[in-house]
Amino acid sequence: MKIGEAIVQRRSIRKFKSEPVPRELIEQALAAATLAPSGKNAQPWEFIVLEGEDKEQIAELMVSGAEQLEARGYNSGSAKNSAGIIRQAPVVIMVYNPRQKKAVKLTPLRKVMWSVDTQSVGAAIQNLLLKAVELGLGSLWICDVFVAEEQISAWLGREDELIAAVALGWPAEEPTPRPRKPWQQVTRWGMGH
Ligand SMILES: Cc1cc2nc3c(=O)[nH]c(=O)nc-3n(C[C@H](O)[C@H](O)[C@H](O)COP(=O)(O)O)c2cc1C
Repeated sequence: MKIGEAIVQRRSIRKFKSEPVPRELIEQALAAATLAPSGKNAQPWEFIVLEGEDKEQIAELMVSGAEQLEARGYNSGSAKNSAGIIRQAPVVIMVYNPRQKKAVKLTPLRKVMWSVDTQSVGAAIQNLLLKAVELGLGSLWICDVFVAEEQISAWLGREDELIAAVALGWPAEEPTPRPRKPWQQVTRWGMGH
């Protein structure tokens, strides 16, 4: 598959078949992730592959995180829905930045480093998603895990920064393309004066 086709065909998949994903395919997707560029080639990423009961625990923490928010009068958005998707998907990959310790104050220099690292991990996640398309797998990039960031990290024994979760599995839906702003609308050539 050409990279352009993968870019065009990729969709956020929110319904998965129950068939397991062979480990070899998960490994290929992770290998693609680690080929991403990163600031100073720091490769600020670590991946935790969860299946079965482990995944269930993440989903439960998200539901209780969402309920706690609601009890305090906040809107928990799509968090419960995303928890359901994590339950259904055969594989969930938790993505961490081991270079960023939690609860460290961001000095101006650290702020730059944080941004550089976060962009780098984003590139790795996108590589993973595109490789998944080539392998025939569906994926969903999930940041709703932040409703239970502390609880999830404590459960996983992580003291670094949670970046996102990625659900992976065989797609059980074929969504039509979601709307995009035309590139012409979001691009300006030169100074325009
Ligand atoms: C950083 C990021 C976080 C996201 N978090 C979630 C999420 O928590 N739950 C969810 O259902 N979709 C999530 N998405 C998927 C977006 O909703 C989706 O990419 C967008 O609506 C465009 O649809 P498409 O991916 O099919 O083109 C996330 C996407 C990105 C890039």
